[in-house]
Amino acid sequence: MSLSLSSERPTPPAVAVDGAWLECIDCADSYAPFEAVRYTCDACDGLLEVRYADLPTFDDFDSDATGVWRYADALPLESGVSIQEGATPLYEVPRLEDELGLEALRIKHEGMNPTGSFKDRGMTVGVAVARELGVSRLACASTGNTSAALAAYGSRAGMETLVLLPAGKVAAGKVAQASLHGARILEVDGNFDACLDVVQELAARGEAYLLNSLNPFRLEGQKTIGLEILEAFREDYDAWPDRIVLPVGNAGNTAALYKAFRELVQAGDLDREDVPTLTGVQAEGAAPMVEAIENGADEVRRWADVETRATAIRIGNPVNAPKALPGIRETGGTAVAVSDAEITAAQRDLAGEGIGVEPASAASIAGLRKLREVGAVDADERVACLTTGHLLKDPDAAAAAGAEPEPVPADTDGVLEALTE
Ligand code: F0G
Repeated sequence: MSLSLSSERPTPPAVAVDGAWLECIDCADSYAPFEAVRYTCDACDGLLEVRYADLPTFDDFDSDATGVWRYADALPLESGVSIQEGATPLYEVPRLEDELGLEALRIKHEGMNPTGSFKDRGMTVGVAVARELGVSRLACASTGNTSAALAAYGSRAGMETLVLLPAGKVAAGKVAQASLHGARILEVDGNFDACLDVVQELAARGEAYLLNSLNPFRLEGQKTIGLEILEAFREDYDAWPDRIVLPVGNAGNTAALYKAFRELVQAGDLDREDVPTLTGVQAEGAAPMVEAIENGADEVRRWADVETRATAIRIGNPVNAPKALPGIRETGGTAVAVSDAEITAAQRDLAGEGIGVEPASAASIAGLRKLREVGAVDADERVACLTTGHLLKDPDAAAAAGAEPEPVPADTDGVLEALTE
């Protein structure tokens, strides 16, 4: 199986350019990386991955650089369309660590990226590839964050951007970002999966370059989340993390982290048995990956109706499942579903340690809590939770989860009196 954790290095096919090529994860057909616009395999429609003949170790990365492009040796280009993405904080959360009873718990807060989500890591690479390919119009379907990032990186590159959003289901901050950064916003009468169907069709007809996570170049940028977490754990604990817990929508991050680990194993920097356990969390109302993991299924069933307050992960058809399911299984991981109430409670827990995240991000902590309670996560584990987006992305959810403002008169005595109540 091409997606197993093997230390075998790939052999470059004749089409490789500078030691890089695109390869189908199903039939292993290979393609030159920037020769034509292509998202899936011509022969079997399988998902594509970027492959490299020379895989870097941590010692190879540029110690003077910071952020995503510090890891250029693991990426298909030497530089991108950059707004200084990556190098996000890995927060300590001593109270949560104590309460959950873990050896170590850290929060990798991807909400601290330029547009407030991890999508920037993918776009800095994906938009640069689009420029390389010479396309004119960029497009994505989005639950919000992808559209905000695409709009920002597209405008930075001086390219036209088109975003398709499920009407009424995208948090206010995200629409505002896409709007101000100059994307053309189309509100679709359907859910995210329907938006993605349309964008894929537009891309197939050559009307736009697709920058959803089906695009293999975007996932290359997102690999750097894993590289940063591993490097930081090695530095702080002299050990790799045992487990990485992350929210799952299209399963792009799950696929990207697994790819980062596989490449480190191939490079000889990480032993197979030290690969962190990938643990995916979905909302109960949108949990097709959890269903597939629980049933031991090879394919994920598309859920037609999905609902959750965590609108970022309101997704019924995780397109990267063929890459992500092996990632969860081969690392000995699992997947778990959490309720909206559990998500909100976790959002408050993180806020109580000064970390502001949007609902989908809090799913990681909610899932970890649940797995810890049933003993599926051990007390001696060092765990990293990924929080994918910033609190201000969804101000309505934050306000609903937080305290109500209290009206007071404009005088000190009145304020003091209110404080005694
Ligand atoms: N968390 C947040 C905040 C997201 O915006 C998304 C995906 C995910 C988690 C799920 O990540 O797809 O890699 O499993 N948001 C996409 C969007 C779908 O359009 O912004 P995944």
